[in-house]
Order: sequence, then C-alpha cells, then structure tokens
Amino acid sequence: MSGLTYSRVYSDINKHKPREYWDYEKYQLTYGNQKNYQVIKRIGRGKYSEVFDGKIAKTQKDCVVKVLKPVRKAKIRREISILENLRNGPNIVQLYDVVKNNTTGMPSLVFEHVDNRDFRQLYPSFTDHDVKYYMYELLLALDYSHANGIMHRDIKPHNVMIDHKQRKLRVIDWGLAEYYHANKEYNVRVASRYYKGPELMVDYRLYDYSLDMWSTGCMFGEILFMIHPLFKGKDNDDQLPKVARILGTNGVYEYCNKYRVTLSSNNKKLLGKHRKKTWEKFINPENKHLCHEVALDFLNKLLVYDHAERLTAQEAMDHPYFDDIRLEREKKKKLEQEKKEDMQEEY
Ligand SMILES: Nc1ncnc2c1ncn2[C@@H]1O[C@H](COP(=O)(O)OP(=O)(O)OP(=O)(O)O)[C@@H](O)[C@H]1O
Ligand SMILES: [Mg+2]
Repeated sequence: MSGLTYSRVYSDINKHKPREYWDYEKYQLTYGNQKNYQVIKRIGRGKYSEVFDGKIAKTQKDCVVKVLKPVRKAKIRREISILENLRNGPNIVQLYDVVKNNTTGMPSLVFEHVDNRDFRQLYPSFTDHDVKYYMYELLLALDYSHANGIMHRDIKPHNVMIDHKQRKLRVIDWGLAEYYHANKEYNVRVASRYYKGPELMVDYRLYDYSLDMWSTGCMFGEILFMIHPLFKGKDNDDQLPKVARILGTNGVYEYCNKYRVTLSSNNKKLLGKHRKKTWEKFINPENKHLCHEVALDFLNKLLVYDHAERLTAQEAMDHPYFDDIRLEREKKKKLEQEKKEDMQEEY
C-alpha cells in the first residue's frame, strides 16, 4: 500500500495560474505613506511581528498595524502576495496597505481591525449553534484559500479573530502560508506545536492543504470540550505521543507504512503503545450540550492520521453537523434575492 503524493483536491491550481500569481520571489512591493496611519497601543507580540491597534488618520476608522521584525525578504513577499491573492475572499482578513517603518526600514502591514475577545473566555460561552456557525465560517475561508492554491499552515485560535457582537470571523496571520504545488517537498517546521499535523511530526514533506484540516480539528476539539489545548505536547517530540495517547499508536504505524516513512528509534520509544480511545473522558456536565454524536463524528473525520483521508474543507462543510447552517444560509440567500427583485420592480 502506498499513498498519493499530492493533494486529493485542488492539486494543480497553481499550474493553471500565471507564474506571477505564485512566484512570490519576484513580487514587487509598493508602499503607501506611513503618515496615513496612527499607531495607538500594542495588542500583540508574535515571533515575527509586533501588532498595534491603530487608526486611519483621515477617517479615524480602526485598523491594525503589524510591524514586521527583520526576516527574509522572501517571507515578507510571500505573506503580502498571498494576502493580495486572497483579497475579498470570504472571512480572509483584509490588507488595507503596506507602509515602510521609518526606524527599522521594515514593512508594516495595515489590516482591517477585528474586535476579538480572548478565545479562552469566548469559546466556553458558545451555544451549539454558535460553534457550528463559526466552524462553518472558518471552513469558508479555508476552502477559498485552498481553492486558490494556498495552504495557511498555522491555523489555531490565536489566528482566527472573532467579533462575536457582529458574528464576524476572520482568518489572520498568513505569515506561514504557502502556495501549493503537487509533489513539492515543504518544510515541516510550520504550524504551532499543539496544532501540528501527524505529517509534520513524522517528517513527511509532501503534505498539502489537508494540514489545515488537522489544525482545524484540534481547534474544534478545544471548543467542544472547553479545554486548551486538546493535545498538550511538552515539546515538538512530545506532540505526536500526546496525540497517540488518544488516537492510538496502531494508526501512526499504518500511516508511516502507507507513506514509507521510518520513525527514528527515539520517536518510537517516545510513542509507546496505546489503544485508540473514545472521547468519553473529555465530556463533562459543562460541555455535554456541544458533544453530541454528530459533532463527535465530525471531529473524528478531521482528526485522521492519514492526511489524504481527512475531510477536505468542502467535504467538511457538507457534513451533517452543518445541516442547520446550510439551511439558514439558503433561506438568507433566497430572502436577499427576493429583496433584490422587489427593488428592481420598484424602479
Ligand atoms: N486584524 C486584526 N484584528 C485584531 N487583532 C489582530 C489582528 N491581526 C493581529 N491581531 C492580534 O495580534 C496577534 C499577532 O498577529 P499575527 O498572528 O498576525 O502576528 P505573528 O507575529 O505572525 O504572530 P505569531 O508569531 O504569534 O503567530 C494576533 O494573535 C491577534 O491577537
Ligand atoms: Mg499569529
């Protein structure tokens, strides 16, 4: 048995795009004027940036300024070209402008501001319907990104902003995102520890969009069970063992055999031997209203070792878990269509 070496879906998107679309090394940066934006206060400090609340000087509209730390020029070009290519896609954070920082000489990215509340407080307040609603909104962004030949590679709660008052979700931080090319080997040092897919941890470099679906599964599990994180590795080597304690070790070995990957003896030792468990011990009186059978079935179809067997974003949206959401969206669309037709009749 051996696995496909390229994505089951959207495998040749970039092959059919002009070279300028994905060849970010040649992307030409153009800068706006830094004076058009005011920086107010720091709201985040990442590995690659410092992020500030800001205002657009002319309109006093809120924005966010991401001041990049010195990194490879190519990485900056990649992030900006991806943001441009995904512009106006559903729930993709909007890039307003790129300006040059006077002190560091590095570019700063100016984004739409999302009034996000810390997920540790927000998620536990979600109803079953809220969880479905926001998961669907996240999947819309992911499917759009994948359909445009781009994998995000760092999906986690910190990179999914939610303005609960406006029921608005935005996927941010495209700093690790990459263009997907079939049969290309990628760096496995991507995604944040708790959200790393098995492919990264067994050093399988021919991974694809399905990496994002594993990370999405980890995030969904956190929301359902009201815990953070779902798989708490002490370090990168301890992450796969933490996953295997729940999903079992047999699956890891089947996965490695299928893709002809050999685990180091140290990794084998760390893995040990574990049966596959059910989610039962994660369920308690506080979260049981979220953890119904359909929800757990959906979770199980995301958290699959074999990346080729995980649900794709499109398949995920078609899962029965989202029956109500799809119906609601259809009704809303019909209403909007009727309203539009009424307007046309009036004129
Ligand atoms: N558009 C936005 N609206 C609201 N908050 C934002 C926005 N963009 C970024 N932030 C805040 O700033 C933090 C860091 O931003 P971002 O993830 O883009 O930077 P990063 O340097 O790549 O981060 P990290 O290394 O932590 O992944 C986010 O986790 C979020 O809290
Ligand atoms: Mg981030």
